[in-house]
Amino acid sequence: MHDQLGSEAELVAALGDHILSSGGKRIRPTLLMLSADLCGYTGPRRVQVAAAVELLHSATLLHDDVVDFASLRRGRPSANALWGNRRSVLAGDFLYARASSMIVEDGDLEILWIFSNTIRLMAEGELLQLQCSFDPTITESHYYKVIDRKSATLLSAATEAGAILGGVTRAERRQLKEFGRELGLAFQLRDDALDYEADDAELGKARYTDVREGKVTLPLLLALKRCTAAEREQVAAVLKLAARQSELRLEPRPAEAEPLPPLDLDPVLELISRYRGIEDTIRRADEHVAQAEASIAAFADSPAKEALLGAARFTVARAS
Ligand code: IPE
Ligand code: IPE
Ligand code: MG
Ligand code: MG
Repeated sequence: MHDQLGSEAELVAALGDHILSSGGKRIRPTLLMLSADLCGYTGPRRVQVAAAVELLHSATLLHDDVVDFASLRRGRPSANALWGNRRSVLAGDFLYARASSMIVEDGDLEILWIFSNTIRLMAEGELLQLQCSFDPTITESHYYKVIDRKSATLLSAATEAGAILGGVTRAERRQLKEFGRELGLAFQLRDDALDYEADDAELGKARYTDVREGKVTLPLLLALKRCTAAEREQVAAVLKLAARQSELRLEPRPAEAEPLPPLDLDPVLELISRYRGIEDTIRRADEHVAQAEASIAAFADSPAKEALLGAARFTVARAS
């Protein structure tokens, strides 16, 4: 990955260094390497393709933090907080292009197809999310459509690419793709629960970013489904104020305008707790992990399979 970040633009190296040295869990390249291993391939191509997948992930984080106005990532100031939105977006483009070149260099058209499709679907997921932000009436099916595209697609691309490297049958490839997808759904469900329950320092990201930025994720969605009309009104009012505050980040109000009141998230947090939004989101994540495990049941036992199952369990047990 470091090798891919050479450029005449000094900023690419600085920004790239910031991203790579901050680490992250590296869950996607791990899944790819293990899937290839499970399918009998342990050669150098899996390093190349896994590095491309992690670079692609880094590009999406650069853009995502701009879109979400996030100032903390992996326990450090985000790239947009340090270098501003304009440079972050361009550096993200640079990483997308670099990652794509690595796949072209590998030379497998099927993997390239999966890769380009993944980039499209992830962008689409983020756009679908924006389309319904601050909307207390969004449905579970819309929520699932968003998380399937913005998160599950990349994990399933990783496990499917591993299967392709191993040259397995169509059926086995489908099973591994499904494993990645179910794991990806569990992963985002866990992420959305963590946004409400984690400790900032351990999470490395700021808590409550989702509701502040108008993302009605499953913990809140479940509470909204179960609560009374009056309680729903309370949440709608919080989201309305959050929307106005979010607009201000793009277009500051004139100095003489009345300042907006601070955002009080307590009514939202109380409802989520009263209607078990977090517990039930975690339960849902567990169900997807069980589905993931079932989808690779037909593979013979091996250390690679054991490790993939361990990765699946980690997805829902993680605290960051
Ligand atoms: C963050 O992904 C984006 C989501 C899909 C929730 P990770 O939680 O894998 O981020 P890092 O790479 O470990 O920081
Ligand atoms: C992650 O969505 C999806 C991406 C494509 C990066 P989030 O906005 O929930 O991810 P975090 O919480 O910022 O990591
Ligand atoms: Mg985000
Ligand atoms: Mg999140």
